[in-house]
Amino acid sequence: MKTRDYTPLWAELTDAYRRHFPRSEMIQQEALRYMVDGGSHSLRLIQPFPPRIVTAQGAWLQDEDNHRILDFWQGHLANILGHNPEIVTSALAANLEQGAGLQTGFTDRLQVEAAEILCRQTGAERVRFTTSGTLATMYAIMLARAFTGRKLVMKVGGGWHGAQPWALKGISFHVDDGLGFQAVESNGVPVAVTDKVIVTSFNRPEHLCDSFRQFGDQLACFILEPFLGAAGFTPATREYLQLARQLTEHYGAVLIFDEVISGFRFRAGNVGAIYGVQPDLATFGKIIGGGMPVAAVAGRADIMALVGRERSIPVMFSGGTYSGHPASMLAAKIMMNYLVAHETEIYPRLAELGEKTRQAIQKAFADEGITVHCSGHDPEALPGSSMFMMHFPYEPGARLVSPEDWANPRVCDLTLSRKVLELAFLLEGVFLLHCHGAVTMAHTEADIEVLAEACQRVARRVKPYL
Ligand SMILES: Cc1ncc(COP(=O)(O)O)c(C=O)c1O
Repeated sequence: MKTRDYTPLWAELTDAYRRHFPRSEMIQQEALRYMVDGGSHSLRLIQPFPPRIVTAQGAWLQDEDNHRILDFWQGHLANILGHNPEIVTSALAANLEQGAGLQTGFTDRLQVEAAEILCRQTGAERVRFTTSGTLATMYAIMLARAFTGRKLVMKVGGGWHGAQPWALKGISFHVDDGLGFQAVESNGVPVAVTDKVIVTSFNRPEHLCDSFRQFGDQLACFILEPFLGAAGFTPATREYLQLARQLTEHYGAVLIFDEVISGFRFRAGNVGAIYGVQPDLATFGKIIGGGMPVAAVAGRADIMALVGRERSIPVMFSGGTYSGHPASMLAAKIMMNYLVAHETEIYPRLAELGEKTRQAIQKAFADEGITVHCSGHDPEALPGSSMFMMHFPYEPGARLVSPEDWANPRVCDLTLSRKVLELAFLLEGVFLLHCHGAVTMAHTEADIEVLAEACQRVARRVKPYL
């Protein structure tokens, strides 16, 4: 592995950052007295400390130090219309004014309406809401295990399904111990669970066939993201998803599409429909909540029925205190309805802006002599995409095609993309988590120009260290 010494650059960046965000640093000191690392979501706790955000509107954030920051992270990619879209905030405000909105502990019409839209737009027969994508994937796996009576769960290397026991293997690529995507990534998880998790390779049909040949008749499910998120921002190929459907059917395993990222991101519904592949179960989150904590498991009625009261021992997807929260269900209903009603204008626009963004990034770095591979779109799989992720291969001519390349620290410079550039971009007034993000309907061509100029300046800054 090539080693690049970023020590002097990191010292320069953190020094400038401290001077740029003094109030955020003060808040961090206070935060550390009460919270480990100063917060409640590790991704947000960028080093040396995160900018503390005060308000967010459209494409832009405002922080405690009064900077405006152009944001492409957009609420963990939940905000497809940008931050705090008026259609959602006005409805929530009106509801609160009428004495509705906070938890009642009862159920209501809003939830039925949100469920109807989700089923109609995703081809699911039944849905149950929960509060996070993590819970949704955990419940989907429990359902699959109960339905099949089998124990093994298969996922792909690099697949991220939230921090739940069956999903904590094969997330990042390990080189030093030679484990690749076969490592367990968390302490405290029972080996009895992680031993039951099989990791196969994304977008590699031969590998998938081998995995099914070896484990197929013991598999409860195969769970995968049709658009691979954290490990590379790339869609599955049509061939791969169709094969996954055929093999799961052949071996009697449940096919689960984790559409927490892809749901309502490429069309007003599931992305599986674009591929013509209907899974047995799908999980949704992020966009469907309209900025509120909503997630869902949706799918075949006969599998979903296992959570019902008719069962002597149901799958205990019984709901939590905040499941189907009235304000969340209102936001979900409004957002999904809006995306359905404006589908023909929203998705082509996002695709167009996404393409311009990817090209602008490539050009800005290339102009400074730095090779960046910008993933996020594959026209053979999906018609257009709002997503982008930058990869910096050590070898300019490297052919990057899979998570085994993008997430491999021997192939791509992950320190640059996940640490150094994150800070460098923030100093330019742009936020990209680990050099990835998405455009929203609130972004404009002028914002892409701002990003392109920021890319050029950060490229100049890091060039001497490459
Ligand atoms: C594909 C996918 N599945 C599941 C999750 C977990 O969702 P949540 O963060 O809402 O728990 C995420 C989160 O980023 C995700 O990207």
